Amino acid sequence: MCGIIGFTGNIEAKEVLLQGLTALEYRGYDSAGISFFPENGSDHKVQTIKTVGKVSNLIDKVSSLSAGPSFCGIGHTRWATHGGVSETNCHPHHFGRVTLIHNGIIENYKELQEELEGEGKYPVSQTDSEIAAMVIDSCYKNNPLKAIKRAVKKLQGAYAFCIMFDEYPESIYAIRNGSPLVATNTKEGSIIASDMVALIKYSKDYFVLPEHHIAHLTKDSITITDLEHNEVEPDMLHVSWDMAAARKGGYEYFMLKEIHEQPEALHNTIAPRIKNQLPDFTTDGIPDSLFNGLNRIIITACGTAMHAGLIGKNMIEQLTRVPVTVDIASEFRYQDPILDANTLVITISQSGETADTLAALRLAKENGARTLSVVNVKGSSIARESDYVLYTHAGPEIAVASTKAYTVQLAAMYLVAFRFALVKGSVSQDVIRNYIRELEAVPEFVKTMLGCDRAIQPISQKLLKTESLFFIGRGLDHALSCEGSIKLKEISYIHSEAYAAGELKHGTISLITDNVPVIALATQEKVFAKMISNIREVRSRGAMVIMIANEDAQVDAALCDHLITLPPIDNAFAPFGAAVVLQYIAYYTAVARGLNVDQPRNLAKSVTVE
Ligand code: M6R
Repeated sequence: MCGIIGFTGNIEAKEVLLQGLTALEYRGYDSAGISFFPENGSDHKVQTIKTVGKVSNLIDKVSSLSAGPSFCGIGHTRWATHGGVSETNCHPHHFGRVTLIHNGIIENYKELQEELEGEGKYPVSQTDSEIAAMVIDSCYKNNPLKAIKRAVKKLQGAYAFCIMFDEYPESIYAIRNGSPLVATNTKEGSIIASDMVALIKYSKDYFVLPEHHIAHLTKDSITITDLEHNEVEPDMLHVSWDMAAARKGGYEYFMLKEIHEQPEALHNTIAPRIKNQLPDFTTDGIPDSLFNGLNRIIITACGTAMHAGLIGKNMIEQLTRVPVTVDIASEFRYQDPILDANTLVITISQSGETADTLAALRLAKENGARTLSVVNVKGSSIARESDYVLYTHAGPEIAVASTKAYTVQLAAMYLVAFRFALVKGSVSQDVIRNYIRELEAVPEFVKTMLGCDRAIQPISQKLLKTESLFFIGRGLDHALSCEGSIKLKEISYIHSEAYAAGELKHGTISLITDNVPVIALATQEKVFAKMISNIREVRSRGAMVIMIANEDAQVDAALCDHLITLPPIDNAFAPFGAAVVLQYIAYYTAVARGLNVDQPRNLAKSVTVE
């Protein structure tokens, strides 16, 4: 949440900041601003330009003001937490000799504000971030490092700060607690940002700023010191993707591009983990001992990642007979979970920075559970703090609505289930080999499903004016319904509910009246007959039924208004193909409603506040 960037170097800073903010906009997009030191600026006066709305508004404003050259500055694109959307609340915040951008939440800002007001210092905004700038300024006696060190002792909460001090017009300082920051030094200068998409233009090599360490960026170098002023060498990381991955590449929206990237992302996630037709985690450094003696698995995650967990649960339980529960991460911490050394807690997260999931992981560790995370972003907090990490290789996911990250998470969870079953000996190697064969075929299966967009577009036209609809399914199809429903809600703003098909008749069926759309998933053979009965129940109450079923299923034409079929595949792998159908339904419906698919209202990618 919130994109932040800082640059100091020998090229125009405003350009670096504005390009960086454009790339980071998916992290928050209600307002944006930059501060910079003009070259040869008089009296070390920092200049700030802010606007509400999109980064494009800021770009227009900056060009209309035709500010002179600058080689050092910071920029921010906001997802409002404290204080509404206004220019005053927009970052950067300036107080005294300090200019700052912030991602996170300062929990004790009220007490700090009272303290500052007691000293006759008053904020102009309603933000906790300005209070942080005021605290740093009040701790500042010409030594930035000491000021930051003193200030962070007073601040409680999550933060990533980039800070400029009036007396140091070529320097940027940064520190973080919880919220992410990555940085790199290149021939153009030093750059720091919330994530790699803002750095990729300059380098594929970077480091994650260690928590509670201060980075001092100058154009020639980045120095990192701990809070005792000891210099620390960062661990360098490398990304395999490039600029093209962070661009739309001819697609109207990132979401559509990312839907189309699924076959490749799946291949990249699956193929390196298969040796001799069996799952193998050697190169991930995940030992078999992780699975020895386990009596329970808890999967915890948020949103779409949690939905991937629901599908993973099914496969793990089926193959190992070890009980698996799936917990919403934001609830996990507050329900006093039962954890011990024979419990494996699996956290799933695209960003690896989701605050609720990170908190759940920390709780699991504190209570002695083993931890494994399924994460997409290299070096992210969840990846670093888990005992083991199984990276998905989806490349950057920029659309707020998660698509490719979801299907690779399914693949990763299936690999975990297969390896666990192999280690436990709960099924034969031949059974696992058969599953592996099916999993290897998934990228091609998904590629075929990408061709169903033409069939979906007319359906989306019909959903255009819908106020509310239902997704129903049984077993895996119910788990997948949850994903279909969140996808549609978040980008099309149409209310929907995912329901276990058999549960409808216990209350919710009262909402099924003439032409209420019901998206019925019927891909699971063992519950197919029951599912057909449930479809008849809604059909006879006037529902407009959109059915997703296997190609070879016997479907009575009178049962549905639209039928989308999946090519033959083992039932366990149907969710990969059906997910594409649901992604397209959400995407084309949102497009037909004229909405900005990549940046849905009120949302942001990577939710780094609890
Ligand atoms: O980065 P994460 O996978 O931890 O994010 C979890 C959810 O916030 C995320 O999946 C969210 O639900 C998506 N916007 C759904 O499309």
